[in-house]
Amino acid sequence: MVDMCVDLGPVRLATPLATASGTFGYGTEYMGAVDYSCLGAVTVKGIRLDAWPGNPMPRHAEVPGGMVNAIGLQGPGVGMFLNHYAPLYETAFEQTGIKPPAMIVNIWGGTVEEYAEVAHIVAGSGFSFIKAIECNVSCPNVKSGGHTFGHDPMILNRLVSTVRKDLEMPLIVKLAPNVPDITPYVKACEDGGADAISLINTIPAMVIDIERRKPAIANKTGGLSGRAIHPAAVKLVYDAHRASKLPILAMGGIYEAKDAIEFMLAGASAVALGSAIFSNPGVVREVYDGITEYCSRHGFTAVRELTGALEIDA
Ligand SMILES: Cc1cc2nc3c(=O)[nH]c(=O)nc-3n(C[C@H](O)[C@H](O)[C@H](O)COP(=O)(O)O)c2cc1C
Repeated sequence: MVDMCVDLGPVRLATPLATASGTFGYGTEYMGAVDYSCLGAVTVKGIRLDAWPGNPMPRHAEVPGGMVNAIGLQGPGVGMFLNHYAPLYETAFEQTGIKPPAMIVNIWGGTVEEYAEVAHIVAGSGFSFIKAIECNVSCPNVKSGGHTFGHDPMILNRLVSTVRKDLEMPLIVKLAPNVPDITPYVKACEDGGADAISLINTIPAMVIDIERRKPAIANKTGGLSGRAIHPAAVKLVYDAHRASKLPILAMGGIYEAKDAIEFMLAGASAVALGSAIFSNPGVVREVYDGITEYCSRHGFTAVRELTGALEIDA
């Protein structure tokens, strides 16, 4: 028997497996298809203050090794989320008798103040299964001409410390991958009081329909996810782990147990599955079983022993 419990900073998870924001709806959509007993957490689609329509269609294109999406953060707004989707999650688990995985609420906003407001509304909502806020910082900062919060360490630090102030809930900051060096961004989160970081978000990408000579998605560009980004994500997790002691929730192209184990050896405390679930909801069970098999075979009695257990020759 392998002890599958992990701690993502102050957040205790029954297993190291989570779902990635935007790939698992608001938590209940995969009931009957995904084995929820394998999940330590579900992360919901990004929520802002008010409802947001997202980008025009088409919003995604498949590519070898993954997909490019520009959903544009479509969402119902925090009020509708707390009045409708969170109670739905609560009721669904009451009916099955299964303990609900911890819910991580992914949030975003156009200003630092908006992020803080949404975070405080969620933290004060009183749902016992909501265990953490995850700030998606890959969003345009309305006050700085559209640059994203995640591409300036000083702005990132101000965002994190403002959201953290008086917030009675653990705060995870989800970092953008397209930076020359992740270290100053990790430090900005640490200094700002983040409890953990998550990485990686999608990588900027473009697909062209050569027959029409037009971009394949209406937004012209989007974000690449899936198998193709996995080695880049492992490198960023490795760099982030060396730069700081902040616990890491890693995601990016997990399709089999090996991918999740790589992330943990590189320094992740927990991992999230995303695009793979679209084509194979059974992947959650497969990855869980593969991790326990690996731990047994290598003499690890607790999965948390994998975190940072990478051996590097001098
Ligand atoms: C369709 C889609 C929607 C996404 N929406 C969000 C979102 O709302 N907030 C966020 O932080 N990340 C979002 N992401 C990024 C994922 O959470 C994840 O970081 C990324 O897809 C890498 O993981 P993967 O390769 O396993 O899919 C989205 C990804 C996809 C594919």
